[in-house]
Amino acid sequence: MVMSFRNISKEALVGSITLGAVFVAGYVFGRKKSSIMSISKSHCGGKDNPLMQYVLNHSMREHPALKKLRLRTMEDSWNIMMVACEQAQFMANIAKLIKAKKALEIGVYTGYNTLNMALSLPDDGVVVACDISEDYTNIGKPFWKEAGVEQKIDLRIQPALKTLDDLLAAGQAGTFDFAFIDADKVNYDNYYEKSLELLRKGGVIAIDNVLWGGKVLNPSPDDADTLAIDKLNKKLHRDTRISLSMLTVGDGLTLAIKL
Ligand SMILES: C[S@@+](CC[C@H](N)C(=O)[O-])C[C@H]1O[C@@H](n2cnc3c(N)ncnc32)[C@H](O)[C@@H]1O
Ligand SMILES: *[C@@H]1O[C@H](CO)[C@@H](O)[C@H](O)[C@H]1NC(C)=O
Repeated sequence: MVMSFRNISKEALVGSITLGAVFVAGYVFGRKKSSIMSISKSHCGGKDNPLMQYVLNHSMREHPALKKLRLRTMEDSWNIMMVACEQAQFMANIAKLIKAKKALEIGVYTGYNTLNMALSLPDDGVVVACDISEDYTNIGKPFWKEAGVEQKIDLRIQPALKTLDDLLAAGQAGTFDFAFIDADKVNYDNYYEKSLELLRKGGVIAIDNVLWGGKVLNPSPDDADTLAIDKLNKKLHRDTRISLSMLTVGDGLTLAIKL
């Protein structure tokens, strides 16, 4: 989820305004201060950031169904939750690089990255997609079908922790290649620990929002989300089970490679 007002595209704001002025006001006044610390997240718009536009113009190869899903998602009032398209493409490239077959998507929303991953996996690949909302995930399904990869998406509507426990109980530890952690922040550490168990050696965990709009610099003691993210960032830095990189793409993305 992006935390920078400055970097939200006009489309996103227009959508949000029509769907709730209160939300927008809260968003603008609550977040603007931290925008200085934010890295830009594009939503493939980048209209107010020429350099980001240049990046998109010179690198994006978005599948037509992905593009349609992105535009459809921009009509939803919570579109700020959608992953940045350049970040999704980067993660697809990582998945291809490690020849991933099995991926975890922890936090699906409308399934932009779920579809992105499904498109990048081989025919016998699978994305186990975890979310608690059918309303959000139903938005994505027609586009998964249109792209012809719906059979690669195993959507499980229940708390993600339950799904990860189910997979472990089914003996799938050490069998996954890639995990994207992007659901509720207070459970990030639990998602990380269970993903690490589910991953094979050399598998990659990508953790989203690790900069949280810059709030990690000065976490407020009553802000459970920021505290959880900052705590996990500190833990990952000294975790000898992985090697890592913290990237400034989107709202901050940590790659943890299982050793
Ligand atoms: C930031 S969005 C995910 C964005 C998505 N990765 C994408 O590609 O656009 C977070 C999602 O996590 C879901 N979520 C929140 N709590 C959850 C939980 N306990 N278990 C599973 N999903 C959860 C929300 O319903 C929401 O759809
Ligand atoms: C990006 O591409 C659009 C459409 O072709 C063009 O109008 C715009 O000038 C380009 N911007 C940059 C910075 O390359």
